[in-house]
Amino acid sequence: MQKIKLQSRFLETCEVPIALPKVSPFVMVIFGGAGDLSARKILPSVYHLYAEENFVKEFSILGVGLPELNDKQYRNFAKSAIGKFKRNRPGKKEIDGFSGHLSYLAGDLGRDELYENLCGKIEKLSKGSGSAEPNILFYLAVPPKLVPGIIRRLQKFNLCKGPLRSKAIIEKPFGRDKESATRLNNLLLEAFDEKQIYRIDHYLGKDTVQNILFFRFGNSIFEPLWNRRYIDHVQITVAEDMGIEHRGVFYEQSGVVRDIVQNHIMQLMALVAMEPPVGFEADLVRDEKVKVFRTIRPMSKQYIDSFFVRGQYGPGKLGNKNVPGYRKEENVSPGSFVPTFFAGKFYIDNWRWADVPFYVRAGKRMRERLSEIYVQFKQPPLKLFGRTCDDLKPNSIVLGLQPEEEIYLGFSVKYPGVGNQPYSVKMEFNYEKNFKIRQHPPYERLLVDCIKGDLTLFARQDGVEAMWEVVDPIVKSWENNSPQDFPNYSAFTWGPRAAGELIERDRRKWRFANG
Ligand code: BG6
Repeated sequence: MQKIKLQSRFLETCEVPIALPKVSPFVMVIFGGAGDLSARKILPSVYHLYAEENFVKEFSILGVGLPELNDKQYRNFAKSAIGKFKRNRPGKKEIDGFSGHLSYLAGDLGRDELYENLCGKIEKLSKGSGSAEPNILFYLAVPPKLVPGIIRRLQKFNLCKGPLRSKAIIEKPFGRDKESATRLNNLLLEAFDEKQIYRIDHYLGKDTVQNILFFRFGNSIFEPLWNRRYIDHVQITVAEDMGIEHRGVFYEQSGVVRDIVQNHIMQLMALVAMEPPVGFEADLVRDEKVKVFRTIRPMSKQYIDSFFVRGQYGPGKLGNKNVPGYRKEENVSPGSFVPTFFAGKFYIDNWRWADVPFYVRAGKRMRERLSEIYVQFKQPPLKLFGRTCDDLKPNSIVLGLQPEEEIYLGFSVKYPGVGNQPYSVKMEFNYEKNFKIRQHPPYERLLVDCIKGDLTLFARQDGVEAMWEVVDPIVKSWENNSPQDFPNYSAFTWGPRAAGELIERDRRKWRFANG
């Protein structure tokens, strides 16, 4: 077991064992095995896990898809994907060793013949895995329209329940609204039990996101303050400086609400707002999250018009870099009304959070890449320090997810010298500085959990539907009413002016803003 020494001025020095949990032998079938997601994320992630000392040696990966490849060609495809999307230098011996676990089955995912062949392959591979109870994972790395057909055929060929311990791994988007998500869930639940379904949201695989629960419930000093009595408001920002890259077709159908708000932002909100679960088992944690989604205040059209802001980026410049506006991106309609920016104010109507606004922002081509949760506390009740109190910055806690993975507490001290001049300082914890270790990227972490059978970090059916219930009225209201002012923010800014006005009306400010 690898041991590391913590190097920190603030923490006690101690040795922390860092090891992947042991997983049992498995067979992973990747539908869309020669596709983009497989090349970018799935194959490199399993490769990196394989390259670790403790990872199970009995496993097989079967790529399935339309491209006519044989096993050797698929291994070459995987080698070049790993070479390109590796996070550290892959050793030739390891890559060769890893590719020995791969094979491929070519065929049309929409036809029965493929599944007849698949049954034979799975039987052979699971015998080879050396386990009496095979652990089969079906990773659906395919466009959403192919998912129903695959699920139906897996069911028809008895590949879901019964002697196979199979699991289905599904990527977002889980539907386009509540209705389609329910349809998809019903279909999945005809074929699998809920405990076999792994709906991936990669945000939940980030260490810093998981740390939100540790921070809240693993310490005793913060939680007593974590409520409406002490917290003034919360800001959640998921800002990206990049545009839509080459994903015009996807983005035109999705937009920022379906892409980021319905899943990543809702999950962050749940982690900040949920009650402590009675235990750290999957369903206990997921029960508490669902309660948060269900208590988010329902929104009328009038509320949406007043407290939600949409935006779309125009062209912009950062240093010497000129970028086109959204409407000029590849595969985007020149008159597109798809929003690339979202800002809004949510309320969670429960005992803990009544009347505490949660301001949320997400967008592409913003000033910088920044994901964080900012919790601002109320000011002290008395202006003890005379006029200077007006300048007193409120106490705050920042849970930084990226680029810096950090937590800090902002507070005021007296500036040295005569008078009562306040001065803001911070106490900080930074993952990179405090732990000199490499964290597992989200996909690796989540794949280990799928193989192990731990559902804690995956969305459950009722959670997915409840998240759609929150955002559906916003999407519908916006889609029924075209914006007049798009594009309304320049690339590499903090979004449209209206987003600033939204919070300023409440006499508050975004932590990062234009101007
Ligand atoms: C994905 C979205 O889910 O998350 C992308 O589809 C977005 O549009 C990405 O760029 C952001 O992830 P991260 O981990 O880079 O913040």
